[in-house]
Amino acid sequence: MSIAAAIIGGTGVYDPKILSAVERLEVTTRYGTALLTKGIYAEKEVVFLARHGTNHGTPPHKVNYRANIAALVKLGVTRVIATAAVGSLNEAMPPGAMVLLGQFLDFTKARQSTFFTGGEAGVVHTDFTEPYCPDLNRTLLAAAADCGLEMLQGGFYVCTEGPRFETPAEIQVYKKLGGDLVGMTNVPEVVLAREAGLCYSTIALCTNFAAGISPTHLTHQEVLDVMAQNVDKVRVLLSYAIKRLAEKRECNCRELGSPILL
Ligand code: HPA
Repeated sequence: MSIAAAIIGGTGVYDPKILSAVERLEVTTRYGTALLTKGIYAEKEVVFLARHGTNHGTPPHKVNYRANIAALVKLGVTRVIATAAVGSLNEAMPPGAMVLLGQFLDFTKARQSTFFTGGEAGVVHTDFTEPYCPDLNRTLLAAAADCGLEMLQGGFYVCTEGPRFETPAEIQVYKKLGGDLVGMTNVPEVVLAREAGLCYSTIALCTNFAAGISPTHLTHQEVLDVMAQNVDKVRVLLSYAIKRLAEKRECNCRELGSPILL
């Protein structure tokens, strides 16, 4: 059986709780080792990776994004559904809303953001006109309709370095630039997935209005609490999405990527 999809769980999604016959995997790559679980759902094999570790021990700027994506490639994964807790800059995307990402802006500063570092790894310039897989996004939207959950789409995501939250001044600038959502982890994950030719989509869950828009100061506890209140929605959505995944990919994510060293 080939693996139908990988789920990368962000803050508050440490176990999809939908998999049976769960097996732990440790996959070593030239970038480091990733810990995953593999299981079955709807007669399909699925792997799960907790981005921050199973007890949220790894902050956003320390996640080994390259090891995680390279490990998925090594396992033969071709599709990745990621979840992310985000702050909202857009009134139409209040806490509790689920949004499929459509575009991103990268304000990270000190991350290994590419597999193509020159030399043996090669020099490659990858197309990002459509950063998230349109085919996988369609599947996720259809899955949301199947289970009666509201899913907004076309979220414009701004990635910051973190781990601090933003200043109100930063949020005002991001809003002027067109940003809807702010988070700390989607870059370089989305970049590495595309470089490797994987289909990648992100379900963002709004946990708070961003700094200066929220009437209160921000805390990580608030993010965890709102995520905990909404995580069942994300689980239901994931289960319907897995059921809907077709055998064949209908997009050109594979062709847009290039072979990476493992
Ligand atoms: N800013 C950055 N990352 C976040 C936020 C936020 O307000 N909420 C959840 N993740």
